[in-house]
Amino acid sequence: MKNFNIEPLNKTFSCEIDSIASDKSISHRCAMFSIFSKDTSIIRNFLMAEDTLNSLNIIKALGADVKIDGSYIEITPNDIKEPSHVLDCGNAGTGMRLFCGLLSSLDGSFILSGDKYLNDRPMNRVVKPLRSIGAIIDGRENGNKAPLYIRGKSLKSFEYTSPIASAQVKSTMILAALRADGICKYKENELTRDHTERMLKGMGAKIFTDKKGFINIEPLTGKLKALDITVPTDPSSAFFFAIAAAITPGATIILKNLTLNPTRIEAYKVLEKMGAKIQYIQKENIYEPIGDIIVSHSELKAIHIKDNISWLIDELPALSIAMSLAEGISKVSNAEELRVKESDRIESVLTNLELCGVSFKEFEDGYEITGGELKKAKINSKGDHRIAMSFAIAGLNCGMEIEDIDCIQTSFPNFFEIINKLRH
Ligand code: S3P
Repeated sequence: MKNFNIEPLNKTFSCEIDSIASDKSISHRCAMFSIFSKDTSIIRNFLMAEDTLNSLNIIKALGADVKIDGSYIEITPNDIKEPSHVLDCGNAGTGMRLFCGLLSSLDGSFILSGDKYLNDRPMNRVVKPLRSIGAIIDGRENGNKAPLYIRGKSLKSFEYTSPIASAQVKSTMILAALRADGICKYKENELTRDHTERMLKGMGAKIFTDKKGFINIEPLTGKLKALDITVPTDPSSAFFFAIAAAITPGATIILKNLTLNPTRIEAYKVLEKMGAKIQYIQKENIYEPIGDIIVSHSELKAIHIKDNISWLIDELPALSIAMSLAEGISKVSNAEELRVKESDRIESVLTNLELCGVSFKEFEDGYEITGGELKKAKINSKGDHRIAMSFAIAGLNCGMEIEDIDCIQTSFPNFFEIINKLRH
């Protein structure tokens, strides 16, 4: 367990960054969806971080040939093999939940497990709807906690309205639907990130949303087209550097080649409402709109975030750092999902902000932060990559000692290299 001491920046910066980690959500999906084709999928800029490499290893264990050359990957699927060992998802909730949907209809028995944090996260949100269409899944706490045991079998078609706004649940059910015995319908109460629908449609799957808001998924009748994709930069990873620019007087940063998918850049819109100057420059549209985002510092003011929570759920820890330095009292509501992320992020943001001298109020579904200044502290990441990186960015303002930074490897291995670029 490594610690890291981050010194205050004590200067401004103006730079262009083109080496931010590739998108985690899209990389997981590239690894998984490749098995729906008979041809070789080509993936450029695959995220070479622990979470997504675990998904790649699982695909290999299921029989696919995987060639890796830097971040260029070729995946050639073969007949599904029943693996002789436990499939390790590491820290990745997306990995474990989406694999539940994928494996439930495959021939064979599979065991999914992860690290101590993942094995403590709730899986009922996917296990229950999957069981209702015939999936055989068991695990600790009657299947709510991993290790999970899955025995693949044919699944029934379904019509399901999800009580949670979750792209993981939606994607899990879409993957199950692709191999169900009839047309399936899935509805969510608000649109969540839609990479699964975009990518599978791009591969030729028949998926459309009807007038009543149900996503209709036709089961596959044959194989899909292989993927040929360049994974864009992860806007959630880039957002740490958007915050760095927003809180540093005189700073400007150009963040290159991000997915500009509206379900992924809401946090930038919030930061803009807080006063930061932000420009969006779309350059292409392949599976997803892709382009650059330029962020410049301006005095920040408080904000109340209560809408489109699923569009910015991953960025709330970093936004909390901006709120701590903004003028006035900021509030986050309707964000109870933060409690079941890689850590209980309401608790881990607030206990660490308290150490930094920030005043706050805690609610079951969010918090209130009184803006002012941050003080250097020794904070604990709680094994959560986004907590470690958010407080590292805070450290650029006031200095910070961060306990347990190993978790950053799950999504953004070169994070500190980029921090160092801001110093030069
Ligand atoms: C993800 C969906 C979100 C997000 C996670 C990645 C995905 O989770 O927080 O980091 O790739 O589908 P939920 O679907 O649980 O909100």
